[in-house]
Amino acid sequence: MPVNVPTAVTASAVVLSLLWLRQCSFSTWICVTLVPALSYAVLSERTKRTAIQDKVVLVTGASSGLGKAFALECTRRGCQKVILVARTKSRLEEVAAECVSQKANKNFTAVPVPCDLTCTAEVRKMAEQVTKDHGALDCW
Ligand SMILES: NC(=O)c1ccc[n+]([C@@H]2O[C@H](COP(=O)([O-])OP(=O)(O)OC[C@H]3O[C@@H](n4cnc5c(N)ncnc54)[C@H](OP(=O)(O)O)[C@@H]3O)[C@@H](O)[C@H]2O)c1
Repeated sequence: MPVNVPTAVTASAVVLSLLWLRQCSFSTWICVTLVPALSYAVLSERTKRTAIQDKVVLVTGASSGLGKAFALECTRRGCQKVILVARTKSRLEEVAAECVSQKANKNFTAVPVPCDLTCTAEVRKMAEQVTKDHGALDCW
């Protein structure tokens, strides 16, 4: 039977670590398990935030489904502005209000921009207007 060397090495390391931990004091257990787990939890949350913190994000299909979920997630992770694009203005306004209610950035704004993305002329007009009003986009 073929032996997968990396898996065998990892499994041996885990077994040896567990054997070593059996003889350790409670404080060593805490240092070896709890401290790295807590550090990971805190740092990974912070890393997630810094990627989008204070950024200007344009989301297409933002009035429902994946686009709406993405807009809300960017909002919760501290983006500064979310520009919401889809065809139905009323639904975009509802999503904008929901984003504002969940904002994590004190300067946050949500901007509904109705546009039919299948119409080249409308897309061009929307891109020009968005660039004029909000400057360069960080993410779209
Ligand atoms: N849901 C999933 O699990 C999944 C998985 C993989 C891929 N996808 C793909 O991801 C995309 C979004 O899925 P979803 O489930 O979030 O769909 P959805 O809930 O139907 O959302 C579609 C969004 O796109 C907007 N939209 C549709 N036609 C448009 C147009 N011509 N111009 C501008 N906006 C338009 C809709 O708003 P208006 O009607 O107001 O314009 C709505 O906000 C789809 O292409 C889907 O195939 C979805």
